Amino acid sequence: MTTVPLASAVLRRLEGKVALITGGAGGIGEATARLFANHGAKVVIADIEDDKGNSLCQELHKSSASYVHCDVTKEKDIETAVNTTVSKYGKLDIMLNNAGIAGVNNTNILDFKLSEFQQVININLVGVFLGTKHASRVMIPARRGCIINTASICGSIGGVANHAYTSSKHAVVGLTRNTAVELGPFGVRVNCVSPYIVLTPMATKYLKVDDDGILGVYSNLKGTNLLPNDVAEANLYLGSDESKYVSGHNLIVDGGFTVVNNGFCSFAQSV
Ligand SMILES: NC(=O)c1ccc[n+]([C@@H]2O[C@H](COP(=O)([O-])OP(=O)(O)OC[C@H]3O[C@@H](n4cnc5c(N)ncnc54)[C@H](O)[C@@H]3O)[C@@H](O)[C@H]2O)c1
Repeated sequence: MTTVPLASAVLRRLEGKVALITGGAGGIGEATARLFANHGAKVVIADIEDDKGNSLCQELHKSSASYVHCDVTKEKDIETAVNTTVSKYGKLDIMLNNAGIAGVNNTNILDFKLSEFQQVININLVGVFLGTKHASRVMIPARRGCIINTASICGSIGGVANHAYTSSKHAVVGLTRNTAVELGPFGVRVNCVSPYIVLTPMATKYLKVDDDGILGVYSNLKGTNLLPNDVAEANLYLGSDESKYVSGHNLIVDGGFTVVNNGFCSFAQSV
């Protein structure tokens, strides 16, 4: 029998769900925390920016949001973040492994320091691994759950960012696929979202431009800009029951950037 959702359920697509968001104090994570809370979710923000995280929680409302200090490279911090979520709200429905850094803007491998490479891999990849591991620890016995990883278009193509970042994001896509296979039999979905350049502090710092500079970067899709909330909407889809049969998917949010090769393109690029 097909059931038609009530209008209120459609408006609040995460009613009754509990989400943990790493890197939730700023940028895409913050936009997602706001959107998830608006859709009825209890949100736990896990970040290293304690002041920003705490003030966002105050704004979102004490009863629906809380903050936990969590460096995603430290297993104990991730373990505590997951345990705090479950003890506070009784369960974990959505784990958003979003914390990430761009690293140094260096395109010369000879100048690329091992320590710089490892720092990016630690946060962007090891952090996602630890987040997935500890979310699975509580989702497997519950036989349900949803894990979303923030990857990037740099997880599909080369040449856009530095070697460490590109490597880390390719690996996040691979980890997403592998864990989707392992966790599917337990009813746990795993997906990732791959945005193009989004107007956030990370992007402005990496490209050394202001907000207008980010919005002026080449895009295939004209007439609109990719903003943090657009990525949050993709997270909302993957976190909601509307995507209940979607797993192992890489949802690319790039206005078609990765499907065109401007080196050989039959279509006019400016009209
Ligand atoms: N901005 C873009 O253009 C863009 C494009 C594609 C993918 N992404 C990805 O989106 C995610 C979010 O990036 P953003 O643009 O919102 O960046 P941002 O710098 O605005 O926010 C990142 C957040 O992660 C937190 N963080 C950093 N290191 C951490 C750690 N060790 N432990 C816990 N939290 C930590 C920061 O404090 C910050 O709140 C990243 O994974 C990034 O790679 C960003």
